[in-house]
Amino acid sequence: MPDKVTVPLIRERKGGPKITMVTAYDYPGAVIADQAGVDIILIGDSVANVVHGMDDTLGMDIDTMVLHTRAVQRANPNALVVTDMPWLSFHISPEETVRNAGRLIRDGGAEAVKIEGGLKRIPMVQAILDAEIPVMGHVGLTPQSVHAMGGFKVQGKAVETARSLIEDARALSEVGCFSIVIEGVPDVLGEIITKEVDAPTIGIGAGPHTDGQVLVFHDVLGLGQGRYPKFVRSYANLAEGAVEALKRYVSDVESGSFPGDEESYHVTDEVAAELLRGQKSD
Ligand code: KIV
Repeated sequence: MPDKVTVPLIRERKGGPKITMVTAYDYPGAVIADQAGVDIILIGDSVANVVHGMDDTLGMDIDTMVLHTRAVQRANPNALVVTDMPWLSFHISPEETVRNAGRLIRDGGAEAVKIEGGLKRIPMVQAILDAEIPVMGHVGLTPQSVHAMGGFKVQGKAVETARSLIEDARALSEVGCFSIVIEGVPDVLGEIITKEVDAPTIGIGAGPHTDGQVLVFHDVLGLGQGRYPKFVRSYANLAEGAVEALKRYVSDVESGSFPGDEESYHVTDEVAAELLRGQKSD
């Protein structure tokens, strides 16, 4: 039985061995991720896109994130369980932020929370940390800022914006985030931020030099619809396999070959004969 992954153990992974994180949003997904041996399961607000079919993550709320977290936690994973704080759950006041983070912990069973944003969010991060809740930061392409960014665009391509992302990550590390996701930035910036901060970095579309990597469950397994972002590597095409399997099921039902003898319950021949006696014949 592998040991339970904890926040201090993730902190110790700065510089290696590489940290592995994948999203999961329900019980079977969590069981699969945990059996594969990932270090961290993230109940990402990407659940909005890949499970609820939304165009962005802005539609998620704290109740929905609690629901998905509880489903994941029922798998009792060895992986550390981290939940995304959804948009507007950490923007209004430190008090409301702590209450919402507390719901993910108490009602959902999360072991840490993740927050998008840098310097602007430091007071909220501080308030959550003061309530003894570990925080994972998230800088770069932060999907909750889709309208402010003018779309899902790679961030930090110019010197000034790159420098401000380094400042964001530095501030998150200094305030006490136990790790920082870096999303959608040039590889050199992923490398620089990783060198600049004490907290382990976990990249997604941030090149190979971060302390770990994260991908979305449906992208890794090829369960998504349509095209994947450039940074995704799909290790299976389960959607295609699932459609093929369901087509065979449909065909078997239509042809009458399912259910067969093996999939049916039986009584003894005597009981069957008695039941069938006197039945109208076709
Ligand atoms: O919501 C999510 O899945 C995420 C990861 C992509 C880091 O934030």
